[in-house]
Amino acid sequence: MKKILVRGGKPLYGNINISGMKNAALPIIFASILVGDRCVVENLPPVSDVELSLKILETMGATIERLGNNTVAIDTKNFVNGTSPVEMVSKLRGSTYLLGSELGRFGEARVGSSGGCDFGSRPIDQHIKGFSALGAKFESCDTYNYVKAGPGGLFGAPVYLDIASVGATVNVMLAATLAKGKTTIENAAREPHIVDVANFLNMCGARITGAGTSVIKVIGVEELHGCNYTILPDMIEAGTYMAAVAASGGRVSIRGVIPKHMETVTAKLLEMGVDVEIYEDIITVSRYVRPGPANVKTYFYPGFPTDMQPQFSALLSVANGTSVVTESVWESRFQYVEELKKMGADITVEGNRATINGVARLKAADVSATDLRAGAALIIAGLNAEGETKVAGVEKIERGYDDIVGKLKSIGAEVELIEE
Ligand code: EPU
Repeated sequence: MKKILVRGGKPLYGNINISGMKNAALPIIFASILVGDRCVVENLPPVSDVELSLKILETMGATIERLGNNTVAIDTKNFVNGTSPVEMVSKLRGSTYLLGSELGRFGEARVGSSGGCDFGSRPIDQHIKGFSALGAKFESCDTYNYVKAGPGGLFGAPVYLDIASVGATVNVMLAATLAKGKTTIENAAREPHIVDVANFLNMCGARITGAGTSVIKVIGVEELHGCNYTILPDMIEAGTYMAAVAASGGRVSIRGVIPKHMETVTAKLLEMGVDVEIYEDIITVSRYVRPGPANVKTYFYPGFPTDMQPQFSALLSVANGTSVVTESVWESRFQYVEELKKMGADITVEGNRATINGVARLKAADVSATDLRAGAALIIAGLNAEGETKVAGVEKIERGYDDIVGKLKSIGAEVELIEE
């Protein structure tokens, strides 16, 4: 079994380059289905969820050409709808985007149930609500979700989302891009990856405005064409390394970021007494004394990202005082706390709140990643801990982090991938 071995206790120094954003790459890969032409996508992070998404498209008839480590040409001219491989689709949450893309281009979609990290129930009622507003009918059975446009295709309409869901916002944009007339998505998600998907589609000829605000307008167009597109930097990867430096000490410049996307994480670190310097596309984090406590409440963007919650809990476990972390996006995202406790963290979870009494230093243990960000949190804890921590569940971490071991080594961390 693959594990990540972390010998903790060394401060980190140097530079880290941030890769493209996984949660923008996935919808853009699936959005390319709508295009029916060749798109060149640059700055794709080489992580397993991206590889799996490309594989799904290839299995369904798309041509995937590797033009470099992070650049891929995707041609979906010969893509065949309704042929998604159930087994692959079941491993990936992003595969729900097949619904919006196939429905938008072919008028119908038949897609296996999607998977992804387990945070309690992950409903798609808001996606369905959007498709229905555009005139489609939805049915599901044990293994498949099936959605079909009415006679005459999809018609633009107002869609009011009850929750500012990232997935539903993307799926409705995808379905509306080639629909007849105007769709307005109210209470849309505002995450930077929503803007990235809209920018990609607009480069292909779509007419989408308002992405990044809570009202997105989509005027349907007849067809799209190929384009060259570069994916945004990953704000969660950047935030993870910021938290790692704050937990381990040292001084690291995180390069190739959009500081605007990092504002909530930056503000929290400053509140904890960690030094953060901001340049045009670089953020330098320095930590020489033990950070103070902070209360964190996750929320939809521009609130504190839920995908940074486990990493911050690891950091707050070594803060000088008591912190409260409240999870307000997912029903259940504290499974990793039991693993952190094995490392000496003093955390009590009640419902969606974790109370964390910081300890001076964590201790090494054998732990297991319960999901992607949980895995990153355990590595952060290991970097602080005394002794050798072994983190199992590496394949979960590899879903979303590009070469986390190599990047941490490059800033002086003692980490390695081992087989046990
Ligand atoms: N929700 C509904 N109904 C829906 C859709 C969502 O009730 O139809 C609820 C969910 O249960 C959840 C909340 O709305 O409580 C937010 O869900 P959202 O749809 O925004 O999440 P998602 O699209 O499934 C993406 C990311 C997640 C990230 C969330 C929130 C991808 C592939 N996944 O998931 O990323 O946590 O947005 O920002 O983009 C990760 O990268 O570690 C990760 C889990």
